[in-house]
Amino acid sequence: MADPYHNIISLRAVRHFDPAPIPDNILRHILQAGRWTGSAKNTQPWHFVVVRERGTLDALAGCGRYASHLRAAPLAVAIVTASTRFWDTFDAGRAAQSMMLTAWAEGIGSCIAGLDAACARPVLGVPDDHHLQLAISFGYPQANAPHTIEGRPLDEVLAGLGRVPFDEIVHWERW
Ligand SMILES: Cc1cc2nc3c(=O)[nH]c(=O)nc-3n(C[C@H](O)[C@H](O)[C@H](O)COP(=O)(O)O)c2cc1C
Repeated sequence: MADPYHNIISLRAVRHFDPAPIPDNILRHILQAGRWTGSAKNTQPWHFVVVRERGTLDALAGCGRYASHLRAAPLAVAIVTASTRFWDTFDAGRAAQSMMLTAWAEGIGSCIAGLDAACARPVLGVPDDHHLQLAISFGYPQANAPHTIEGRPLDEVLAGLGRVPFDEIVHWERW
């Protein structure tokens, strides 16, 4: 298992999965990592909907423009928030990263899928006073997977590969 720093900097989006299921004890750790994430005033503005049924995963995959990785994943966790206010979605992002890093420490890859709420809400039965904006696919990475998103090369879709240089984004004392 990688040390925390290397676990963080080696976490990359995995969109092509081996069909092997995620063991229940590891799934439990992933969810506990989300649950124990800190949040503004400890409001914990999230619910996690665990999806393993193939038909439901396929239905969710149809709810996002770049969500087809859900079709190959053995597991997804949808994050439902109490509101779409900045701090609630910020907290949800922190919980997502906690779960993804916990999975990665076990060799399990993941990728976020942005979802159209009107499409995804009825699929998961999310109540009207809660918000559903994304789900996370989890699964063991497929060997020799193509570097594609929706069948297209990554660099055709994404803003860029890798990361912006350190000195371009780090400011010392003042911008
Ligand atoms: C808020 C958010 C929404 C995202 N939505 C999608 C998505 O709908 N489909 C997808 O394939 N990846 C999605 N991603 C994953 C990003 O494309 C990925 O984090 C980014 O390209 C960096 O990938 P890398 O860590 O492999 O370099 C999303 C990521 C975030 C943070």
